[in-house]
Formats: sequence, C-alpha cells, structure tokens
Amino acid sequence: MEVIIQPEETAAARLVARIIAKELRANPHLVMGLATGRTMEAVYEELVRMHNDERLDFSLCHTFNLDEYVGLRPGAAGSYRAYMNRHLFSRVNIDARDTHLPDGTASDLDAECRGYETLIQKFGGIDLQLLGIGRAGHIGFNEPLSALRSRTRVKQLTPTTILQNAPMFGRPGKVPRRAITMGVGTILESRRCVLLATGREKAEIVAKAVEGPITSMISATALQLHPWCTVIVDEAAASELQGGAYYRWVFANEPEWAEFRLKRPRGRAPARSGARTTRSPRRRNRPPA
Ligand code: F6R
Repeated sequence: MEVIIQPEETAAARLVARIIAKELRANPHLVMGLATGRTMEAVYEELVRMHNDERLDFSLCHTFNLDEYVGLRPGAAGSYRAYMNRHLFSRVNIDARDTHLPDGTASDLDAECRGYETLIQKFGGIDLQLLGIGRAGHIGFNEPLSALRSRTRVKQLTPTTILQNAPMFGRPGKVPRRAITMGVGTILESRRCVLLATGREKAEIVAKAVEGPITSMISATALQLHPWCTVIVDEAAASELQGGAYYRWVFANEPEWAEFRLKRPRGRAPARSGARTTRSPRRRNRPPA
C-alpha cells in the first residue's frame, strides 16, 4: 500500500483523475471500477475537464460500478445509475452500453449478483478500481463483518451508512435499507486499487484502514492485502496517520510518482517588505527521522 498526502481536497481529486487518465491513455480498453459518493464528484469533474480540454477518450473503455441500492429504478433520483449519468457518463464520450451497475430492481437479486461477477470476468476483470471509504470503514457497501473473501451480494446497510447517505435522499427514512455491492474479495481481485478520502471526518477511519490491524469490522483494512493499492488523502484526512513523514518521503522520492508531484513555482518567493529573507530548509529528499 502507498499513501499520498495532498495539500487539499482539489489536489487530491486531481491526482486521482490524472492516475485514471494515464491508465486510460495507456490502455483505451481499460476496465474501470467506479465509485459514487460526494468525494468522487471532484474526480469526475476533473475527468470531464480532461475530456473537454485534453481529449481524454472514453469511447473504448468499460465501467463497472461498485454498488447500487436495492429497489431503486435506474432512473430514480437517488440511484447510483442516475449519479453516474449526472457526474460522468452523460458528459464524456462513453457508450451507455459499456457502463455497468448492478440492477437493484432485479426480481432475482442473487442471480443478478452472480451475473455481475460473471460479466466482470467476461471483460477480463477490473484493471483499475476507484474507491471511497465510508465513516465506518466500508469500501463499496461492505459493511462491518463483511467477509474478506466476499463476492457481489446484497448487504443490509448500517445506521451509520444510512445517516451518511441521507443528504442524497432528503432524510434518513428515505434511504434504501439494502444494496447490491461488489464483495471485498471481488475488489481485491482488481489489478490496481486507488482509494480517495478527503476531509477531517475521514481522518480516524483512514488511520485505522491504513495503519490498523486487518479486520472484517473495517473492510477497507483488507486493502493492506492488495499488491497495488494507492490511498490518496488531503491533509485533513491524513491528520491522524502516524506515518505521514514516511509517506511524504516516499512520494517525494519514488521515480514512479515524479510526473505526479506538484510543480513548485519557479523563481524566488518575493521578500515581504521589512522581513529578512531566509533560506528555507531543504525538506524534500530527507528521509524521515
Ligand atoms: C459508493 C461507495 C461508498 C462510498 C463511501 C464514501 O459507491 O462505494 O463506499 O465511496 O461511502 O462516500 P462519500 O464520498 O459520500 O463520503
């Protein structure tokens, strides 16, 4: 696992979008696993900008979303299909037939879940899985005690998740109680995982997910088992991490990340009037104490 700390939310979302764009340019047939939620909105906004300004092409890729509420028609306002259409699919050149979400209105939900797994396999598995993290540590809707080898299935949502998602529905009573979600095992099979978390309210759970013991009580801890998982956080979400200095040092020095590091402004910073000009200590390439 790698952790990248960005100065603020926009920079963190942009970095995620740049990683996706790089993968998509290298492989236009990329199979992307997508997430919804407030955190992802900035990522999709940046992907749309790249599509408009930098000709980022989505015409050959395929997408599989992590989850969908049970009982909501795809067109329903709170459905994740509607979210994806609004934030990404209707704004880039992707064919709707190449975008996949579980059908939460299927008459046989178990068959729908099995079919979703089969479809992912048919496309050769997920190349890049985008993830957010819930306040109780879920990835997808893998609520506490989700088996670490679980597959796509129906899950009952916890009160924490219902409260977290209530703003999208107006009030908690309107949030569907169940959802179809890819399993932890399904997610762990993707070739690469990128998790984005921003804001102070995610700091405690990010620290547990990254640095705590692996436990089915916090499904995001399972990502510690993934061979290529990048966790991208802003300063606020990083504020309870113990290893911040080490993570920053790796990001500053790892050649793989060179093209993703924020460019420092050229030239000397203008001296403030009356202030003495001092040289700032060199921090960048120093290993953590
Ligand atoms: C949604 C999903 C969830 C969210 C998580 C964070 O498809 O998979 O795991 O990523 O609940 O949601 P926000 O970003 O709204 O805090």
